[in-house]
Amino acid sequence: MVQVGIVGATGYTGSELIRLLLSHSGAQICCVASRSNHGTKVSQMFPQFAGLTSLEFEPIEMDRLKALDVVFFATPHGVAMEYAPKLTSAGVLVVDLAADYRIKDAGEFTRWYGMEHSDPAGLAVAVYGLSEVNREALKSARLIANPGCYPTTALLGLYPLAVNQLHPVGQVIIDAKSGVSGAGKKVSESNLYTEVTDSFKAYGLGGHRHQPEIVDGLRDMGLRVENVRFTPHLVPMVRGMLSTIYVTLSAEDGARDIHALFRECYKDEAFIDVLDQGQFPETRSVRGSNRLKVGIYQDKTQLTIVVVQDNLVKGAAGQAVQNMNLALGLNESLGVSQIPLSP
Ligand SMILES: NC(=O)c1ccc[n+]([C@@H]2O[C@H](COP(=O)([O-])OP(=O)(O)OC[C@H]3O[C@@H](n4cnc5c(N)ncnc54)[C@H](OP(=O)(O)O)[C@@H]3O)[C@@H](O)[C@H]2O)c1
Repeated sequence: MVQVGIVGATGYTGSELIRLLLSHSGAQICCVASRSNHGTKVSQMFPQFAGLTSLEFEPIEMDRLKALDVVFFATPHGVAMEYAPKLTSAGVLVVDLAADYRIKDAGEFTRWYGMEHSDPAGLAVAVYGLSEVNREALKSARLIANPGCYPTTALLGLYPLAVNQLHPVGQVIIDAKSGVSGAGKKVSESNLYTEVTDSFKAYGLGGHRHQPEIVDGLRDMGLRVENVRFTPHLVPMVRGMLSTIYVTLSAEDGARDIHALFRECYKDEAFIDVLDQGQFPETRSVRGSNRLKVGIYQDKTQLTIVVVQDNLVKGAAGQAVQNMNLALGLNESLGVSQIPLSP
């Protein structure tokens, strides 16, 4: 059994890791760490786990974490990089759900996240955990930068174009919407029920932190994109993310059957569904699951690609478990094969 620790286990992605890992037949959660709440039972904070675990929250202690096989950091940016060097040196696999290791250029990280990077050596060796794209590199990873939720939809929505060298003409527009759990559990006025219910807004225009991650990801996939125009929106639902991606192709590329290319690209993927022609996905058809669904509309050179996922699962904890499985040579589907919950 793989011995697992979760730092930040009291938050949304942390509790989602608990949910998924409790059903993982090859892993055992040994430590759930929190800055406070020490001694509180997991089942007391999260009644959905009553009867399933007797774990209690513990302080974040290096010696305790070093004794494990894997540590997930479901924490804000800036936390994992303080612990990762010592943990990876001790042979522990580190999976960071935050942004510490996503942007390879330390200067760019500072520009977007407002702090110095304290582990440039780790930055150099970390593997970007977009499971379907970086599978081979993930198999030998010791430090994994789990992707952001918006970049997961954008990059997997465009990957088949990269595989087929279909470079967009002009800009690519990514019009993305997220449920409120994307902002985490921490209290802030803008996330109050009264502020988000029955309303719908764009945010982060001209400067969302996922923009450079998307640009880097497209470059690493080998897709030439002149300009990415990315606008995130907050929608009044708890979970779910939908990104609509607009692409213009050249006349030559526009003559190809893009839907067939997407089908071919993802035909062996357990977690990606390319819907039939004329079908488009909705967020409730992925809720609670590690699945990502794609619908494609093509009008000659004009492509509209619609991608949905559960932001807390494929967009965070699910992909993190998928990545752990890859890095440890386990079956990729262990702990993440839940069927979506609908209605
Ligand atoms: N929510 C999503 O959909 C989503 C998707 C992809 C990636 N992410 C990323 O995943 C990370 C966690 O997100 P989340 O939504 O789970 O956030 P969250 O609900 O706010 O939980 C974060 C947890 O981190 C702990 N924490 C906060 N500050 C800390 C510090 N300085 N040192 C150690 N622990 C600290 C807190 O636990 P204690 O107070 O108990 O210590 C808290 O429960 C973030 O980096 C986020 O950007 C989130």
